[in-house]
Order: sequence, then C-alpha cells, then structure tokens
Amino acid sequence: MITVAVANQKGGVGKTTTAINIATALAATGWKSLLIDLDPQGNCSTGIGISSGERERSSYDLLIDQASVADCLMPTRIPGLDIVPATVDLSGAEVELVSVEDRTHRLRKVLTADTGHDICLIDCPPSLGLLTLNALTAADSILVPLQCEFFALEGLSQLLQTVERVQERFNPDLGILGIVLTMYDRRNRLTDQVADDVRSCLRDLVFESVIPRNVRLSEAPSHGLPALIYDHACPGSQAYMKLARELIGRLPERRIAA
Ligand SMILES: Nc1ncnc2c1ncn2[C@@H]1O[C@H](COP(=O)(O)OP(=O)(O)OP(=O)(O)O)[C@@H](O)[C@H]1O
Ligand SMILES: [Mg+2]
Repeated sequence: MITVAVANQKGGVGKTTTAINIATALAATGWKSLLIDLDPQGNCSTGIGISSGERERSSYDLLIDQASVADCLMPTRIPGLDIVPATVDLSGAEVELVSVEDRTHRLRKVLTADTGHDICLIDCPPSLGLLTLNALTAADSILVPLQCEFFALEGLSQLLQTVERVQERFNPDLGILGIVLTMYDRRNRLTDQVADDVRSCLRDLVFESVIPRNVRLSEAPSHGLPALIYDHACPGSQAYMKLARELIGRLPERRIAA
C-alpha cells in the first residue's frame, strides 16, 4: 500500500477536499482506497457521509490502543473506498501521546498490516503537532495543498523544514509527492503572482493541475458526498480528476531534491 499524507499546517487550504476527491478519483479508477481522518474536526468523515453517530472505532483507537486498521475502518457509499473516521476524542490524543515512548511511530506501526488497499490518504489537521508527525512518519510521501495567497510561501518553508526533520529522524524514505495550488481564482492578480512565485521556487514539485475556486466543491460536503459524485462535471471535479491522473503518474513518489 502506498501511503500519502495530505498536510499543511495552515488551516482551510483544501486538505480535506483534496483527500476526499483524490481518494474518490482513485477508487473510481479501480484502486482500493483508504482514507484516514486524522483531524479531530472530523471534516473528512462528515464530508464523505459518515455522521458522528455512526462512528464506532476511529483513528483515536489506531493511535492510542494500536487497534488494527481492519477493525477501525468503515465502508463509504463510494465503491472501493473505505475510511477510518475521526471522533472528538482525537483532540485529546496529542496530549495522551506526549508521554508515550514511540509517540511518533504509532500510526506507522498499525499501517504495516496488509488490509488489501492499494493506497491510503491521511487527512491531517492544521498543525505540525504529533498527529501530523505520526502521518509523516507513516507516509511514503506528502501531498501539500497550497492556497494561492500572500503568506503561502512562508508557511510552506516551515512545512518543508518539518519534512526534512522527519526524514532525518523518523522516516528517511518520506518523499514529496507534490504541491497542488488550490482555490485558484484567475481574476485575482495576487493569486497569479503567488502561483508564479511558487512555481519558480519549487518548479516541478508543483503539479500542473490547479484546483479552481469553485462553489460546488464547497457545497458537496454538506451532502455527505465527494464533489466528484455530487457534480462530476463542475470545474472543481474536473480539476481533481486531472490532478488524480497526474498524481498516478508520479507514483512511486519523487524524493525531495537534496
Ligand atoms: N477549490 C475550492 N473552491 C471553493 N471552496 C473550497 C475549495 N476547496 C475547499 N473549499 C472549501 O473551503 C473550506 C476549507 O477547505 P478544506 O476543509 O478542504 O480545507 P482544510 O485545509 O482541510 O481545512 P482545515 O485546516 O480546517 O482542516 C471548506 O469549506 C471547503 O468546502
Ligand atoms: Mg481539513
């Protein structure tokens, strides 16, 4: 199984939207896909149509009790796509893990078991705390959604430093799958400027596919559906399909340039 952490410590940049729609696109192309909701907000679980009342086992159980993925996953309405949901107790997990010796490797340990999935996408919370560190330690690569706005590059350099630290200390095999520009608005000149800056700094780490700002993408979660199912023809869904194709072409992931 290929494991991809969808991460950016900045909030509201499109991590969850990207995780849900890429997982859906991959499931639609026949990849047995697994989502792990590692954010106490549980947006990924809700957005895929799993209400909080339905969640029995969760990512909290993976991390704290080292429960098996097979015991914690639930099927979704999308054929070929399973999810390990998040529950509110995950917000306490970070504190509970602090005193645990293998605190950064908890997720990695449970993900070694074969569950029959081809790919696992981990939806990370907006922080660089122990939850995200567990995801980066468990992952083969990181996928970074980046919103085209003024402080984007500053936050990105902090994130890339964290990736390097994880490579040095916990997971030498962690690669960068790529950076995807999200909520792109071509009528906004600042958006264009930021996109150019990011591309000139990070070159081919940045995916060619760009996700436009599209209201259908933001409506879909309230229906408990990926945008790809809610309205597969909308520009946002089309962009995610294109990104999924590009992403498949990059697997196995490229390494961070030395
Ligand atoms: N391309 C887009 N166009 C319009 N709205 C979008 C787009 N991508 C995401 N959104 C909306 O923006 C909000 C933030 O997106 P999302 O939840 O995916 O970000 P996130 O990085 O996971 O946030 P958090 O850091 O809180 O977990 C959501 O309401 C989502 O529906
Ligand atoms: Mg999110």
